Amino acid sequence: MDPDGSEQDPETKKYSSVCVGREEDIKKSERMTAVVHDREVVIFYHRGEYHAMDIRCYHSGGPLHLGEIEEFDGRPCIVCPWHKYKITLATGEGLYQSINPKDPSAKPKWCSKGIKQRIHPVTVDNGNIYVTLSNEPFKCDSDFYATGIFKVIQSSS
Ligand code: FES
Repeated sequence: MDPDGSEQDPETKKYSSVCVGREEDIKKSERMTAVVHDREVVIFYHRGEYHAMDIRCYHSGGPLHLGEIEEFDGRPCIVCPWHKYKITLATGEGLYQSINPKDPSAKPKWCSKGIKQRIHPVTVDNGNIYVTLSNEPFKCDSDFYATGIFKVIQSSS
């Protein structure tokens, strides 16, 4: 018997879900921050859906919980308050506008740089919101600001 999970393998424990708050609260504030197994995340409530992602922007570590949500190309994005990078809430893709230099009259097109910000699954049970850290095995640019060296620098300054 291991009621508090203290005997669990640390890797397994790291990917167990953590209760971060109540549905009624996030529905009012539309966002909240939490620390899930030592990783800082922001949870957005937007148009009836929950989205959790690393709190620091993949570009330079900007505070995404202070950004505005806007739609680009029909995709809701968080706009980083530091340098205005746009990150899709649903997938963590970095969006940018491209212009064909050979055709200056063409309209700029929204394009994706691929997944840059790590997204974490959110579940709701009995009015409680749970976040489970993503264990997708790819390297995500936001990992740098969520783990390791950067965190050590932050906590020592
Ligand atoms: Fe977010 Fe630069 S730190 S856009």
